Amino acid sequence: MKIIAGNSNLPLAEEISSYLNVPLAKSDVRRFADNEVFVEILENMRGEDVFVVQSTSAPANDHLMELLIIIDALRRASARRITAVLPYFGYARQDRKPGPRTPISAKLVANLIEAAGADRVLTLDLHAGQIQGFFDIPTDNLFAAPVFVDDIKKRFNGQNLMVVSPDVGGVVRTRALGNRIGADLAIVDKRRERAGESEVMNIIGDVTDRHCLLVDDIVDSGGTLCNAAEALLGNGAKSVSAYITHGVLSGEAVNRVNNSQLEKLLITDTIQPTKEILSSEKFGIIKIAELIGEAMRRTTDEHSVSSLFD
Ligand code: R5P
Repeated sequence: MKIIAGNSNLPLAEEISSYLNVPLAKSDVRRFADNEVFVEILENMRGEDVFVVQSTSAPANDHLMELLIIIDALRRASARRITAVLPYFGYARQDRKPGPRTPISAKLVANLIEAAGADRVLTLDLHAGQIQGFFDIPTDNLFAAPVFVDDIKKRFNGQNLMVVSPDVGGVVRTRALGNRIGADLAIVDKRRERAGESEVMNIIGDVTDRHCLLVDDIVDSGGTLCNAAEALLGNGAKSVSAYITHGVLSGEAVNRVNNSQLEKLLITDTIQPTKEILSSEKFGIIKIAELIGEAMRRTTDEHSVSSLFD
């Protein structure tokens, strides 16, 4: 087994490597003067089972190109099997045509990864499970739920919890987490009654005096979460925290969360947290390296990966 890291999240790749006790393979992933990506693998890769760890987080296009070029280099170096490990799969939200003459970019990215020469994909909490079908190679979609459960047990032990989906699309993911911790489910139903009027947020479920945990795959601008927190507190919730797998947190998101009514926002480190995030009391980081590392170990040993979630 060999592990190669792109530049998107080196600390995570290093933690995976130390969990597996497999040093990161020596490689050079750098830019030419005109910013083109250049990759040189500095170890023999013939016949190896190679895992390339790279989140396609911002700058998504640069990180995607790094991933594709590393895979190409490995294929030409006669690696036996190449697994693209994408802790965060960028472009996943573009998984359907929102209107005429628009792309399905998630499918295009899947095509590119396959065309580059990946034999397998390993990722976590895909925005929509069906994206697995965009690949014609085996694709494992891990769930952050077990690490969330451990954290919830430590942090919220004994409290009257309720899991809340911030939109109707996230109900399956949220219910699955609720079942693991024995908590009821509530749903935030956003509706614009008439064009030009502001959105109304209805809460489905009685959240009175409950400690609410919002659950989602992505926090980007933070708008969804902060508005949901406000609506839940307005409906009698005692406190609102959130468990989100991928902290995209673009633009003013960290400020927005810092100034929100959310008590705590727990994110994993699939995307490398910035200093601003690390220094904020509102945020908590849940380490994901062991889960990903264990899935990699099972992949290379040809053992079950799904049993990680039983
Ligand atoms: C959307 O369907 C996703 O699951 C997230 O709810 C969304 O990406 C969050 O975005 P934002 O933080 O910008 O509201």
